[in-house]
Amino acid sequence: MSSERNPLRLGSIAPNFDAQTTQGPIKFHDFIGNSWAILFSHPADFTPVCTTELGVVARLQTKFDERNVKVIGLSANDLDSHDKWIQDINEVNNVEVKFPIIADADRKISTLYDMLDYQDLTNLDAKGIPFTVRSVFVIDPKKTIRLTLAYPASTGRNFDEILRVVDSLQLGDKNRITTPANWKNGDDVIVHPSVSNDEAAKIFPGFRTVKPYLRFATQPTDKPSA
Ligand code: BEZ
Repeated sequence: MSSERNPLRLGSIAPNFDAQTTQGPIKFHDFIGNSWAILFSHPADFTPVCTTELGVVARLQTKFDERNVKVIGLSANDLDSHDKWIQDINEVNNVEVKFPIIADADRKISTLYDMLDYQDLTNLDAKGIPFTVRSVFVIDPKKTIRLTLAYPASTGRNFDEILRVVDSLQLGDKNRITTPANWKNGDDVIVHPSVSNDEAAKIFPGFRTVKPYLRFATQPTDKPSA
């Protein structure tokens, strides 16, 4: 399936695929199961920014577990390379990588998810074939894509921000709320515009009206999935 003919948008079903990973073969949808998933690509094994990023993700493992999120990395290298690189990541960052990394040396999955780098001419393998950019897909248990990000090879991502979006999405799925700029888990939320004032009085007692279209409430106790 060509990604040009079928762009992956918010609301698209994440394409299913078979893959070899550092934790054995997977079928992506079975791997997700009833969890949320974060599929993220990084340009290549044994590269500096990627080595720091995967250390950060490994350190956040408990936070992903608490939110019922399975994390899975991908780079366009083979399993042998991934296995060796994980030893470096663990050593350099003083962590233990517990999430799988997909081996995508033939770029089948990177192509399916439109992850290949078309602009950075330093982000190529020895044959001149592009590696991936730093893509992120947040996928819910129905396999729907809920967030997409694409960062250049030169810029490491902020994984706290990705967790923050997961918190907002999970909270918004369970409650009729949205979250303001720079919101973080525990801060006041915004009453969804579709909620009338009469309904809001019942659902969000004590809600605060700043403008008729801007109403704040304390964060519902129904927290993002544990
Ligand atoms: C890096 O991870 O450091 C990197 C990878 C590819 C291109 C540029 C930087």
